[in-house]
Amino acid sequence: MDRRDICVFDSGMGGLTCIRQLTELLPNETLRYFGDTGRVPYGNRSAEILLQYARQDVAFLKTFSPKAIVIACGTVSTTCLDLLRAENKGVPVLGVVGPASEKAAKVSKNGRIGVVGTRATIRTGAYEKAIRRLRPEAVFESKHCPLLVPLVEDGRVTEKDTVTKLMIREYFAPMKRAEVDTIVLGCTHYPLLTELIREEMGPDVTLIDTGREVALALKQLLEQKDALTDSAEEGNRYYYASDSATDFASLASVFLGCNIEGSVERIDIGKY
Ligand code: DGL
Repeated sequence: MDRRDICVFDSGMGGLTCIRQLTELLPNETLRYFGDTGRVPYGNRSAEILLQYARQDVAFLKTFSPKAIVIACGTVSTTCLDLLRAENKGVPVLGVVGPASEKAAKVSKNGRIGVVGTRATIRTGAYEKAIRRLRPEAVFESKHCPLLVPLVEDGRVTEKDTVTKLMIREYFAPMKRAEVDTIVLGCTHYPLLTELIREEMGPDVTLIDTGREVALALKQLLEQKDALTDSAEEGNRYYYASDSATDFASLASVFLGCNIEGSVERIDIGKY
């Protein structure tokens, strides 16, 4: 057993989809979440800048001596995971690509798989490579959707947000044409749009939630290592943002379905 914290980060609100899943799967664990809201979006940045940001994010979270760090960000996972792992050998660092790709390879019936993500993620082809290792015959339709992250960060995720619906229609049209039966939501912001995407794609297309898959992988890892907490109490949740704590709290409360005001701290990520 291990009572240390689990630390999770993303560029902004997207990784909360992973916190939501971890809260359900591992309710007794202490979770710390950092959203780099002062520098979001990550998805259009160069590999050098992404690595600099990711190193700072990890350095901040390591100050809590966690038992695991989860990169709840498709962009950082697809561009920096190997380096971050090599530089942080003492702590398991989990990314979203492996778990989400395994799931997609497993559930797709027709082998036609859609991958959506940020520009940086789609440029790497990381999901496609990982899926192809398991399903060599798979055919992909991949698309970067740069406007979805700012819309999510602005809270425009409901049925009445016509601009978001319009963008989803445009971005997902090639997926429809390609008759994919599975879509990897390769950016952790996108599961916050699940209902709108499902409405566009119909009920027969499986949407892979990267935050959920990495949360399941972490649970499995902690079980294997006998490193789950032995606490029977509900775990504490701490949130950190690099921009306004108030703004983070009000939007995050909506996404998480509970009030987190009072548990958000603003930090200066430039110090790390
Ligand atoms: N949520 C992140 C991802 O999964 C980052 C999105 C962004 O900041 O552009 O890619």
